[in-house]
Amino acid sequence: MKVLIIGCGFVGERTADLFHAGGHEVIGVTHSPASAERLMAAKPWQVLACDVSAISDVQALRSKTGIVDAFIHCASSSKGGAEMYQAVYVDGMTHLISAYPEAWELYTGSTSVYPQTDGSQVDETSPAEPGKDTGRLLRAAEEITLGKGGTVARLAGIYGPGRSFVLKNLLEGKSGIEVNEGAPDGRLLNQIHADDAASALVHLVTGKHAGIFNVVDDAQMTQKACLEKLAALFSLPVPETKAPDANRKRGWTHKHVSNAKLRATGWKPVYPSYFDAVRDDPQLVSSILALVDEASEVPLPRAENIVLIGLMGSGKSTVGRLVARLLGFQFADTDHMIIDRAGCSIPEIFANEGEVGFRQRESAALRELLGARHTVIATGGGIITQPVNKPLLRHLGFITWLEASTELLVRRTAANNDRPLLRGEEPPRVKLERLIQERAPLYKALADLRILTDDLTQEESAYGVAESARIFFAHRS
Ligand code: S3P
Repeated sequence: MKVLIIGCGFVGERTADLFHAGGHEVIGVTHSPASAERLMAAKPWQVLACDVSAISDVQALRSKTGIVDAFIHCASSSKGGAEMYQAVYVDGMTHLISAYPEAWELYTGSTSVYPQTDGSQVDETSPAEPGKDTGRLLRAAEEITLGKGGTVARLAGIYGPGRSFVLKNLLEGKSGIEVNEGAPDGRLLNQIHADDAASALVHLVTGKHAGIFNVVDDAQMTQKACLEKLAALFSLPVPETKAPDANRKRGWTHKHVSNAKLRATGWKPVYPSYFDAVRDDPQLVSSILALVDEASEVPLPRAENIVLIGLMGSGKSTVGRLVARLLGFQFADTDHMIIDRAGCSIPEIFANEGEVGFRQRESAALRELLGARHTVIATGGGIITQPVNKPLLRHLGFITWLEASTELLVRRTAANNDRPLLRGEEPPRVKLERLIQERAPLYKALADLRILTDDLTQEESAYGVAESARIFFAHRS
């Protein structure tokens, strides 16, 4: 089908990508010519600029696109007030319907239209009479869509790579558990991963499901439960309780929004709960850690672990075990975790899934280590080659780079045959020298401590790591 996506933001862009991947003809529409240009350069689908609040703009858009089978309005009001809501949602929807009378229309609204504050379960038949003007305008746009027989998708709080206020605020020490008399355990969170929101929109439009649908994940989770679990995962204290923020854009609500109606149509989320995404989304946690680190308003929280990086044969596993014994820490080894989860050897993983598959498993092992404390983590030599791993490594602990001369590396790695990167055409020495060239800058950029191990016994190296880590953590606390 030929689909128009109006608003190519966090959800719109993904929705356009999904339609395109499904073999549909996509035209993405953005408000500003600047973002149209950026998308045009990056996307395989057509991009046009249009201000939906201006009828002349929408008519001009119609003459460019011709007839379309469906349009999705998921433009945002860019945080504006009631006037913006009127222009973008109410007027925008009216203009689009008049310019594309033959198209199926989907309007993306918000679960904020449910004003319930008693923690009850709400579905599409529950009263949706928002107290705020902005909420009433969202409802008006919904009514316009429903009047035409189209689809209204009420989206819960959207998160995804680069956007998770719950986690970002916690990492920056800005979280509080909001409680009041109606919600002594904090309000219920209603969230949806951006990928799942996009898949729901595609599903609703391609299946021509008319009416209202809540787009929210399966989790029934209070903000308190979420923050407690996150605090444990990120080795942070549980935030204190506080009174609700009176200026919150979505207003204070406390309700569990049901997705039963949408699920009954056959849609399934990839991330049924936020914590599935924390574990399984390759980018989510890493991207938020990177945001906090780059903003450098507060130092990135560092868990009380020791992470060993360095090339194959540099002694990470042996020295790591010794450090763990010296400090009474646990010991973990990402290579062993990968072998364990995969149920086969590293050469077999490389053979079956390629290096790409191995690297994905390596990142997953790092995410699995979130929440570890007092652990020495030995990592595979190539872990630093994946940008997504860097924020995770930095958060996971005090990073020590074990260096060794090529001589030593060649000698140590000659002992066994379980390193696929050293089994190629290139002689191991040449390959190792090349890897040193490529990777030394990456190890250096990440390391809190660098130890040249050639002239040290492994016990001496371990002692150096343990003492340095002790001082590092003593300073931070
Ligand atoms: C690799 C190093 C290995 C293992 C895999 C790839 C690398 O770990 O993860 O064979 O890219 O350097 P060790 O460094 O523990 O040998």
